[in-house]
Amino acid sequence: MILRTSYDGPLRGGIRPPGDKSISHRALMLGALAEGETHISGLLDAEDVSRTAECLTEMGVSISHSASEVIVNGRGEAGLVAAKQVMDAGNSGTTLRLLMGIAAGYPFQASFTGDASLRKRPMDRVAVPLRQMGAEINGQGERCLPPISMRGGNLAAIEYEMPMASAQVKSAILLAGLRAKGQTRVKEPGLSRDHTERMLKMFGADLEYGPGFAAINGGQALQARSVCVPGDFSAAAFFMVGAALVSGSEIDIEEVGLNPTRTGLLDVLREMGADAEAAYSEPEVEARGEPMGRVRVRGGGGLRGVKVGGELIPRLIDEIPILCVAAACAEGRTEIRGAQELRVKESDRLSTMAEVLRELGADVEELPDGLIIQGGKTLKRARIDSRGDHRVAMAAAVAALVGGEVEIEGAECISTSYPNFAADMCRLGAKIEAVE
Ligand code: S3P
Repeated sequence: MILRTSYDGPLRGGIRPPGDKSISHRALMLGALAEGETHISGLLDAEDVSRTAECLTEMGVSISHSASEVIVNGRGEAGLVAAKQVMDAGNSGTTLRLLMGIAAGYPFQASFTGDASLRKRPMDRVAVPLRQMGAEINGQGERCLPPISMRGGNLAAIEYEMPMASAQVKSAILLAGLRAKGQTRVKEPGLSRDHTERMLKMFGADLEYGPGFAAINGGQALQARSVCVPGDFSAAAFFMVGAALVSGSEIDIEEVGLNPTRTGLLDVLREMGADAEAAYSEPEVEARGEPMGRVRVRGGGGLRGVKVGGELIPRLIDEIPILCVAAACAEGRTEIRGAQELRVKESDRLSTMAEVLRELGADVEELPDGLIIQGGKTLKRARIDSRGDHRVAMAAAVAALVGGEVEIEGAECISTSYPNFAADMCRLGAKIEAVE
């Protein structure tokens, strides 16, 4: 599919972004493991999350829909059962890595595959600790690429120091740890998103966690809960940057997740000079597990370049493609360092964004762990290939707000995380149409 996007005045109005993708996966998974019925409102309706639901269904979980909720009938003590076929995680790294952690806890054979992008993504980062716990895991080549076949059960707890800050790895280990003998402890070199820890607590698990570590005792049962999924900060990020760039814009993003492990982009946009403010909802809303609130962005003041690196990187890891667009339009130089994890996302986002920005007329240098972007160039009309990466496609669409018409080839990948992206952009004032 080709999408044609163009500037059609400022972005104005209110929007409720789709449900948070990371939290949606976890709500289905913990619901599947818990004793009782988990009711989920606001679950993201997009391909990645459907993959998680399908894989869980294949492992014996019953998932149904009412008008306003998704209901997961937890397997509890009965446990998951072996899938009759290879489970397909599609484009979703979170589906595959977290489910590997879950499957490691059961004494059955499980096989997983994914699409062409996922089959290039390394699973050794979860296979290494899960093997240490006692699971048998086979993948392709040294980096343990999918397809994966594994057999778990009878796990022993480990203490594991992760080589990278990654919520997927941390979560896989904690989920395996739930069914291991003893206490499993993980340490990570940075602060990655803590949705799994928060939700495990909410489902009644005895778990300790803090900046850079988490510990869970094995052999615990989870209790079903009602989960209310906040709007996805990473989806909202495209509107935040769009509004910050276009003069006269004013948007309110409602009910958006404001977990501090996710909101690094807000800090950076403010440092760049954007008028962006967050108002947190009442504490009782947060008591449901995740902070949320409203973000208001007013556009037009002009942005300046920044340096982004270190501890901040995990807090905005998925927002770097759209941050690159902001940087290309800002005055001065932006330097993004310590972001080598981007090389193993849905595409190699460092080289993909360097190429895309150049095609849009920006001045970019690619580094092994980041990008240097000389801002202030006028972006131009372009035809961009999404490279099958949803966040690259959406970032290119936002670039059209300042650069004139952008055509995005392979835009269907947007539906992995945000099927209504084009419609929502149009509601705020952009012009996006499918041309093929
Ligand atoms: C995610 C964690 C991050 C993020 C991904 C979703 C999650 O990946 O980039 O989009 O839901 O746990 P890593 O854990 O590999 O950093």
